[in-house]
Amino acid sequence: MDKKATVIGAGNVGATAAMRLAEKELADVVLVDVLEGVPAGKALDLTEAAPIEAHDSRIVGSTNDYAPARDSDVVIITAGIPRKPGMSRDDLLSTNMGIMETVTREVAQVAPQAVLIIVSNPLDAMCHVAHTASGFPKNRVLGMAGVLDSARFRAFIAMELNVSVENTHAFVLGGHGDTMVPLPRYSTVAGIPITELISPERIEALVDRTRNGGAEIVGLLKTGSAYYAPASAAVEMAEAVLKDKKKILPCAALLKGEYGIEDLFIGVPVKLGKEGVEEIIEIELQAAEKEALNRSADAVRTLVADMKRLG
Ligand code: NAI
Ligand code: 2OP
Repeated sequence: MDKKATVIGAGNVGATAAMRLAEKELADVVLVDVLEGVPAGKALDLTEAAPIEAHDSRIVGSTNDYAPARDSDVVIITAGIPRKPGMSRDDLLSTNMGIMETVTREVAQVAPQAVLIIVSNPLDAMCHVAHTASGFPKNRVLGMAGVLDSARFRAFIAMELNVSVENTHAFVLGGHGDTMVPLPRYSTVAGIPITELISPERIEALVDRTRNGGAEIVGLLKTGSAYYAPASAAVEMAEAVLKDKKKILPCAALLKGEYGIEDLFIGVPVKLGKEGVEEIIEIELQAAEKEALNRSADAVRTLVADMKRLG
């Protein structure tokens, strides 16, 4: 392949993302982890599946050595600990901020032109760590949450109306947490706003299920959090960058006054291409939607302040 994508963290999300990147022949793939043997073992296993899956992406694994990641076009960072039942994403803060800082510094050394797609939680706060630790311009640091949260909303809309998921479109903005902001007015089925197809009570139920989508899966899995849909979401973003698609997706991006929010990573619609975030799209929000986005921004700001206290 003429593109290279590195995935840091060869756990559930990372290994699944590596598989999807390879099977879609988006890039050669490098998997990095701290665990001895695991990234190499998963890379070899994926390589042995390639003849059956009919792809020619090369996949290599590496333990703590970032040299194979040199000159990557895209780096997806999933390193860290996931949630267990009873934990919020924010409980992960102190552990994951240290991991994020370490791995981002390593990545920036070997792949100074890469676009970083952050996945580790708490997502919006981890984007701040990666932005500072990499020293990259704001367009090359973005976070995956909105694509996942919107996909969950789309899945629930499709189930509700018994229609193809391909007919659905949805936007979930804000931080990746309990304050996320699903936008029913901008969510459609075959171009028709769901507000014309589903009752307000049922929309509220679908919105609630979306907000709790991560916790619902943690409650079922018990030993970790979701990874199939998160990996698909990160790879959709990577694909938009690797193919310079100019695709509009909800992603965590550093706002500098857009939506009236200053110096904060939070989920908004962005245009994704080879430069990463090529444009932040400002859509009209009604007063209640704007208020919800501001509440979500306040929650992210609190986490960023907590990180400063934790040092
Ligand atoms: P996992 O535990 O399966 O994998 C994490 C991997 O990171 C492990 O293999 C671990 O060894 C590795 N790791 C830890 N420290 C490292 C370091 N310093 N360098 C390299 N690798 C290191 O966890 P999973 O399920 O893959 O989740 C990963 C992260 O992504 C978690 O923080 C989780 O909360 C987050 N997540 C975020 C989502 C989002 O929407 N933004 C969705 C799903 C997960
Ligand atoms: C999720 O939403 C754990 O943030 C992760 O599934």
